[in-house]
Amino acid sequence: MGASFHGFPGLDRPAIRRRLMAWYRRTRRDLPWRRREGDGYAQLLAEFMLQQTQVATVVGYFERFLSRFPAVTDLARADVGDVLALWSGLGYYRRARNLHAAARQIVEEHEGVVPRDVKALMRLPGVGRYTAGAIASIAYGTRAAVLDGNVARVLMRLLAIDDDPKSPVLRQRLWQVAESLVPTRRCGDFNQGLMELGATLCRPNSPACVQCPLRRECGAHALGLTGRIPRPGRRASVRSVEFVVAAIRRGRRLLFARRPLTGLWAGLWELPSEPVRPGESPRAARDRLRKRLLASCRLSVTPATHTTRQLTHRRVTLHVYMGGVAPPASTHQPRRSFARDGRLPAKRFRRSAGSSPCPARWLEPSDLPSVGISRATHAVLKLLSF
Ligand code: ADE
Repeated sequence: MGASFHGFPGLDRPAIRRRLMAWYRRTRRDLPWRRREGDGYAQLLAEFMLQQTQVATVVGYFERFLSRFPAVTDLARADVGDVLALWSGLGYYRRARNLHAAARQIVEEHEGVVPRDVKALMRLPGVGRYTAGAIASIAYGTRAAVLDGNVARVLMRLLAIDDDPKSPVLRQRLWQVAESLVPTRRCGDFNQGLMELGATLCRPNSPACVQCPLRRECGAHALGLTGRIPRPGRRASVRSVEFVVAAIRRGRRLLFARRPLTGLWAGLWELPSEPVRPGESPRAARDRLRKRLLASCRLSVTPATHTTRQLTHRRVTLHVYMGGVAPPASTHQPRRSFARDGRLPAKRFRRSAGSSPCPARWLEPSDLPSVGISRATHAVLKLLSF
């Protein structure tokens, strides 16, 4: 399948830069290498460690490494066996060998100073375009872009590009987009903001769009496509299924429905849902779901977010639409006459057109322990802070 660009208009670069950097400065995690931002050696070390390894694991290694080898000259002089010993447990040991060789090259060819520009950095062993861009921008404020898996996902969603994330042509285009976005000033903060957004909010499976500083700029969000961008990698024998889900709020409660006693999540309670049929858009399934709800229920036109769960034989994506209940129009119909006891009459919610009604209830968070709920529904509730 070819690329599909959803025709989202050009990016508002100034707005993206302003919002992303303001969010980053407000919320950034306090990480040890961020306390040494002007230090090329500290950034080199951090970026080597962060290739393929989680931030939480890197923190302790980074601090131990710096206290043992405080300067690039200390590392260059060290025995590679000692470097490997200190790296032990971090994995991908080729990184440690490359780091050691890079330190030697920096001492021999750059007078012990980590280079400032991307081309010179990329001549060091183990330094690719991403690592070079990160070091140059964070340590020296050099205007350089970064693109790793997290940043690629953020950019694909911003532009609503529905393509194979592994495609080399797409990769090239995303580098161009990343380069066009980097500001001339404080580009280290901008790049770290992109990394941070991908790592914390713009997650592959359960993005926290509600908290995202770029949701107004985001094409995937506007078009309801966060659950389809980036496309999932194909895994043999795992079937992908999608549902649209209605989060209908009424005060502190949400509307729940019980699933049929057979099939997926049999008998569990969930937010009312409707399967997306093969070849169908989530929007069409959302329209069907809307028809099954009470006439007084409102439902957003595009999803607020999505979550993707890996089950044993299925990969399930839930597109979450937000809704509420319109107050009764007539003053002759007091509000309390509507579900006075907090229960929604079962006959008012149908599983699908023409089928028998399914039980439905308004539940508040304290009710949850007493009803059976799948982990997927728990994930949706967490995204909604319910
Ligand atoms: N991942 C890669 N580089 C990073 C950095 N500088 N900060 C946080 N996470 C990262």
